[in-house]
Amino acid sequence: MTKKTYITTPIYYVNSVPHLGHAYTTIACDILSRHLRQKGVDVRFLTGTDEHGANIEKSAAAKGVSPKEWTDEVSAKYKALWKTLNISYDAFIRTTDPAHEHVVQAIFEKLLKSGDIYLGSYSGKYCVSCEQYYDESEMLEGGICPVHKKPLTEVHEETYFFKLSRYEKPLLTYYQEHPDFLSPKYRANEIINFVKGGLRDLSVTRTKVKWGVPVKSNPAHTIYVWFDALINYISAAGAGMFLCEGDKAEHEEKLALIKAENFDQLWPADLHMVGKEIFRFHTVIWPAVLMALGMPLPKKVFAHGWWTVEGEKMSKTLGNVIDPAELGAKYGVDPVRAFLFREVPFGQDGDFSMTSFKNRYNADLANNIGNLLSRTLNMVSKQQPQLPQVIDVDVEVVEKIAATEAAIDRAYEELAFDKVLEHIYAYSADLNKKIADTKPWELAKTDPEGALKILLEVIACQRKTAEWITPFMPTIGAEMSKRLAAGPIEKYAPLFPRIADK
Ligand code: MSP
Repeated sequence: MTKKTYITTPIYYVNSVPHLGHAYTTIACDILSRHLRQKGVDVRFLTGTDEHGANIEKSAAAKGVSPKEWTDEVSAKYKALWKTLNISYDAFIRTTDPAHEHVVQAIFEKLLKSGDIYLGSYSGKYCVSCEQYYDESEMLEGGICPVHKKPLTEVHEETYFFKLSRYEKPLLTYYQEHPDFLSPKYRANEIINFVKGGLRDLSVTRTKVKWGVPVKSNPAHTIYVWFDALINYISAAGAGMFLCEGDKAEHEEKLALIKAENFDQLWPADLHMVGKEIFRFHTVIWPAVLMALGMPLPKKVFAHGWWTVEGEKMSKTLGNVIDPAELGAKYGVDPVRAFLFREVPFGQDGDFSMTSFKNRYNADLANNIGNLLSRTLNMVSKQQPQLPQVIDVDVEVVEKIAATEAAIDRAYEELAFDKVLEHIYAYSADLNKKIADTKPWELAKTDPEGALKILLEVIACQRKTAEWITPFMPTIGAEMSKRLAAGPIEKYAPLFPRIADK
């Protein structure tokens, strides 16, 4: 059985509604999946929602509904947004899926048996919002949470620990032997230094959090939300069957709820795409858990940067949270998708501004790709009403297509989505220049055959452009291909109507 290319987004918290930041990670995976599928690769693209923990319990209480009702509602909002944004995911996991919960419990018991999880106690400071303990070196002066800037709570409690300390050396060796695991490269050192600084065992249960997966052998404890969440990548891939021991029939019934998967065909994942703030969870804790389970590790974890909006952090309090669906309704979903990946080198932080969005829209889409399409179709139609299926082009044209495609493929391999778009837009700009230089509308008066040859050649090239833009702009790519396909030329509205300055 051949291995599929398994790509995952993080699973999103359902304590508030999705925004531009969540859409960014998901669209990135969608673009990559669509590109790979175009190349004939068998892709499995997983996304989902992270639904346990005190924060979610709190959001539900604030709305006066049960956690279950609340998670159903918000999870559905994510699904609806992904539909609007044309996300081609293959599977959607929710951590409240009984089959996932079952796998989490089974893994916990397995690690308890192997000694990788043990019962201990914790005394110190805890942040209720982070659902995390902080030690002296991490907290702000006066016992303040470094994230929420609120006083930490003093706790003394029984908790299970995962023996993270055991995996310090194996992790460092793994990073060294798999240089692509920590991507992009400039984010690797921070992780390596963190691990070299020494790993402490990790508390993986809570007694105060009710909305979580109970420890099977000691239900007074629920499992820490991150421990639960990371497991989604394997539970959704069908890891359950061989992890669960004991009553086979009971397991089978629960696991049947996850669509039958062939684990070996999916695992190890080829790529976990994550935001930079959750890189450490995915590159330290997660691989250590997998090592403890004796499972192969994901091939790559890639951390992208964060968006600010008009120079400010996106926040509800500032009221500057961008709803990608709203933006898409106004300017088209496809231009929004493309903008996010042209504006900022993938991996780095970026700032979203309407000015920059409009400028790029007009320059790259309306004036470049859109204008070329309407001009050439218009001019060709004056000479012949019909486009042929096969267009003969000169060898230099074939070579340029091949070179551009090779550059695009290389950029995809580095996940440099900005470079992919740069190559496509530059290619289209060259075609525009060719039209400007050769002036087929004038040439047609003296050499109609020569003019037609140039125009048809540019049509052939645009068929490639349409194919290349499709992973970023699926609807527009298809529409462009349709307009350029063999058959009578029709009159169409502009692909990208210009956005007026005011
Ligand atoms: N539930 C955890 C992930 C568990 S994965 C096993 C979580 N969820 S989240 O809802 O906070 O969403 C995380 C994703 O959204 C990250 O990839 C993060 O980078 C992305 N973004 C959220 N806000 C963002 C920006 N302002 N800019 C870019 N991406 C950001 O963490």
